[in-house]
Amino acid sequence: RQDRAIRPRMLADYIGQPIVREQMEIFIGAARARGEALDHTLVFGPPGLGKTTLANIIAEEMGVQIKSTSGPVMEKAGDLAAMLTNLEEGDVLFIDEIHRLNPAVEEVLYPAMEDYQLDIMVGEGPSARSIKIDLPAFTLVGATTRAGLLTSPLRDRFGIVQRLEFYNVDDLSHIVARSGRLMELELDNAGAREIARRARGTPRIANRLLRRVRDYAQVKGTGIVDQDIANAALNMLNVDAQGFDHMDRRLLLTLMEKYDGGPAGVDSLAASIGEERDTIEDVLEPYLMQQGYITRTPRGRIATKLAYLHFGLDLPSRFNSES
Ligand code: ADE
Repeated sequence: RQDRAIRPRMLADYIGQPIVREQMEIFIGAARARGEALDHTLVFGPPGLGKTTLANIIAEEMGVQIKSTSGPVMEKAGDLAAMLTNLEEGDVLFIDEIHRLNPAVEEVLYPAMEDYQLDIMVGEGPSARSIKIDLPAFTLVGATTRAGLLTSPLRDRFGIVQRLEFYNVDDLSHIVARSGRLMELELDNAGAREIARRARGTPRIANRLLRRVRDYAQVKGTGIVDQDIANAALNMLNVDAQGFDHMDRRLLLTLMEKYDGGPAGVDSLAASIGEERDTIEDVLEPYLMQQGYITRTPRGRIATKLAYLHFGLDLPSRFNSES
């Protein structure tokens, strides 16, 4: 992946997420000074905010190797056992989408996390038996979109839990400016800020938009990215002034036009817009809620006044009594 070249490698290069950064500096510094493995760390938050990046930074800062896998690719207990027995003292085992572990695989993880013990059945029928193998002290870094997706026994075994938040425009501007420098692109502050404002609070989106704006500047301009070029490129890409893309607008408009602003259940909305329920809950909704365009109630999702104003739609009468 091209992303790799511009990902920060150390905490000092990691922009934003000040709480996470401060805490991890302390925990990593302390574990290093004691010569111990860092405690198991759960990182959660919407896609593209830097969960994988943080796992790699943890390994780099601890001076250990990282072995990466993901929940759904480990089909059998033996797949996890193979990864665990490949670790060296202090190593990081990174499991992305850890909420999608098969229960039989998850069972193997409990004693491994708790006692650095591999406890596994070998053989079948009457000759089946369980064997225990000591593992090196290691750090499990698990990533998931929502902490609530984990079973509680798994969640309880993480000593460190970090929640990644959407980035503000200042932090995203710095990230875009940094990426521009690494790409040897001529990018001014206003250009970086325009991209940052329209990146849904998400570095992965900001960096993707930056590459497309660079293409646009190269073909339609002089190669220099300023605010005008960024604005023209982003309009061409159908990213609106709030940073909403086609799917965001589809979700909001469907909620307002087909469901009269809601409440609408997430499954009905998913069917209406032809998206997976998970995509709505993990990708679309978090940003729309954080920005105040949607709220969640026990009866379903509701479009807020801000959503109507954004699209220039007439406010339904229910807003009259409120303000
Ligand atoms: N690139 C992507 N995410 C980043 C971050 N948080 N800090 C610096 N560069 C980044």
